Amino acid sequence: MNKIRNILTLITWIPCCAFADSYLISTPNTSLLLEGDKGTDLNILYYGSKLADSDMEQVKNSGLAIYSQAYPAFGFGYNPETALSVLHPNGELALQLVLEDYQRENREDYELITFTLKDKKYPLQVKLNYKAYQKNDVIEIWSEISHGWKKPVTLKQMASAHLPFMSGDAWLSHLYGDWGNEGIVQEELLTTGMKVIKNRDGVRNAHVCHSEVMISLDGKARENSGRVIGAVLCWPGNYQLRVDCVSPYNYAFFAGIDNENADYTLKPQEVFVTPELAVTYSTQGIGEVSRTFHRWGRTTHLANGDKPRDILLNSWEGVYLKVNEEKMFGMIQDIAALGGELFVMDDGWFGNKYKRNDDNAALGDWTVDREKLPNGIAPLLEEAKKNKIKFGIWIEPECVNTTSELFEKHPDWIICPEGRTPDYGRGGTQLLLDLSNPEVQEFVFGVVDNLKTNYPELAYIKWDINMSLSSFGSSYLSDKEQSHLYIAYHRGLRNVLERIRNKYPNLVMQACASGGGRANYGILPYFDEYWTSDNTDALQRIYMQWGNSYFFPAMAMGSHVSASPNHQTGRNIPVKFRFDVAMAARLGMEMQPKDMNETDRNFSRKAIETYKKIRPLVQFGDLYRLISPYSDKGVSSLMYCSADKNEAVFFAYKLRHFVAQPIPEFRMDGLNPDASYRITELNVPENSKPISVDRQVFSGKFLMEQGLRIPVQKEYTSRILKLDRIN
Ligand code: DGJ
Repeated sequence: MNKIRNILTLITWIPCCAFADSYLISTPNTSLLLEGDKGTDLNILYYGSKLADSDMEQVKNSGLAIYSQAYPAFGFGYNPETALSVLHPNGELALQLVLEDYQRENREDYELITFTLKDKKYPLQVKLNYKAYQKNDVIEIWSEISHGWKKPVTLKQMASAHLPFMSGDAWLSHLYGDWGNEGIVQEELLTTGMKVIKNRDGVRNAHVCHSEVMISLDGKARENSGRVIGAVLCWPGNYQLRVDCVSPYNYAFFAGIDNENADYTLKPQEVFVTPELAVTYSTQGIGEVSRTFHRWGRTTHLANGDKPRDILLNSWEGVYLKVNEEKMFGMIQDIAALGGELFVMDDGWFGNKYKRNDDNAALGDWTVDREKLPNGIAPLLEEAKKNKIKFGIWIEPECVNTTSELFEKHPDWIICPEGRTPDYGRGGTQLLLDLSNPEVQEFVFGVVDNLKTNYPELAYIKWDINMSLSSFGSSYLSDKEQSHLYIAYHRGLRNVLERIRNKYPNLVMQACASGGGRANYGILPYFDEYWTSDNTDALQRIYMQWGNSYFFPAMAMGSHVSASPNHQTGRNIPVKFRFDVAMAARLGMEMQPKDMNETDRNFSRKAIETYKKIRPLVQFGDLYRLISPYSDKGVSSLMYCSADKNEAVFFAYKLRHFVAQPIPEFRMDGLNPDASYRITELNVPENSKPISVDRQVFSGKFLMEQGLRIPVQKEYTSRILKLDRIN
């Protein structure tokens, strides 16, 4: 065994553990401590602040060591909840996993620690992996299950990871939502019994329960204080996150693919690799957990996370399905004149035999509608080039309408058990293609590949999906593999995306799923961003962006300025407020620019210019959430600071106005207390004066401890302040 252990230190440990090996897995500020000898249980003792080798003894002597199996399996031991349960080919259910081997590899940015666990009786093994980043406080955990039986073993439960923890007052923060109201923060006390977050949509999971959580160990979540565990399951399909409160202080957290209706028949020689669960820990509240996940996301789980995102105009709310050459040309010219960098032609451009004039036809027929665009796509790309902007296009390649040439040719490509009538989706004719089928995978890859081959200058794809996994059944999978469908679908999709990314690494791709249904780190490694919501109402977006910011960086959150009154809520909101909200994420527009009056057009042009200046801060800076929209103060505020703390941008929004309602002072965060900052107000409308703090200088300490009184009296007043260090 390749063990890295400090034998001298071990000898001084408490006698009951004299034969146990200890394994310390550390990131810059956190440690996970495990223990186990060959042939015995592998236990987790501790997850928290970083330990030195010499601290391990303190953990054990303190009585705080947890001693809970790292990967509990069903059958033996007192494990009310388990990570793994199987059905052996002989009908036996029990497993007794003990430690067999241990390896530690040092890579450039991370350490990979792998424990091999083996059943005491049967040839079944689990490799339990811990990938500890050395520049960021994240540990990714996943398992690899295999066996040496001659017949298949059925996996009945296959969690990615188990993390036990202790707390006298543990609270869960997680995101919940619906179409048009994604990423809503929910907080609850974890009481005895089990809290289960389970999602069986199969595709648009992030519309409802997200696969990311924060667990605050010292009472209700606070932004800047308190111990917090953050956990992100990287799986866009069916998932299950469980917190089992075994007794008032002892908790067990499990996360992985949901096992319900998903038994997996594991063949001899096959290795079942579970999706990774990324965990972090902070003593500085949920704010620090978010910043850690943002850094981790940008560097490891988001396509091109080191590249700034373009400012775009998307055609959907401007023209809906009424795409035509004249309107597209007009929109290209208008966004270019406003200073935008990209135009995206949304739904409505395709279909020949069947026309995409409504949402009930043509999905699957990815050829240009020559009635709408008689000269095809090439002139649009030309026009974009002439206007010095890029061009992008919308597709929904995983779906088909029954009214399509594709369906006529391949009726067997849909997800539905043979001989049954499927559940139809959007338009009463939409169905999901069966991505477990390699022919379908080839077709879906071809949709992007053909577009890119025909139009190499195509810079952006909006990849949409407006369907859940229903009519459960695959004519491709064998009878015995029907319960694999949830998993096989995502493996198929991943194959396709992997191929696309390998061939077109610089193609910008947006993950859209009826809005924010695919805000998930299982899919974001293949996408540069996601569409946060079909609801572009600036007021509701404040709540959605706040919730999404718990786990996702601003650069990944598509946020578009749309028309007023808003198409989803009917709310009238001034253009400044709409921009000030969208500028706190990846700015874009979603409207017909021709409908704007001259004042709004001028404001938009200047705001876009301003966004270009603050883009590095918003897209790459550290987020500090200051006043929550959920706090009932009638205001909300946040800011982004550069890593060197020399620059920052601050946003404040007035959400509601009640007469004589006190407005709190805005205390900043993330600044250097010893530095002085000059304040400049941004996005000041023509004919308005900047607020009184404009051009004033304050120390970082003052701004963070005392704060500023900022006038945001009336509903939908907003302010953006730029802070520049002057000494
Ligand atoms: C749903 C998406 O969320 C919208 O942005 C738009 O692209 C429509 N689909 C188009 O059908």
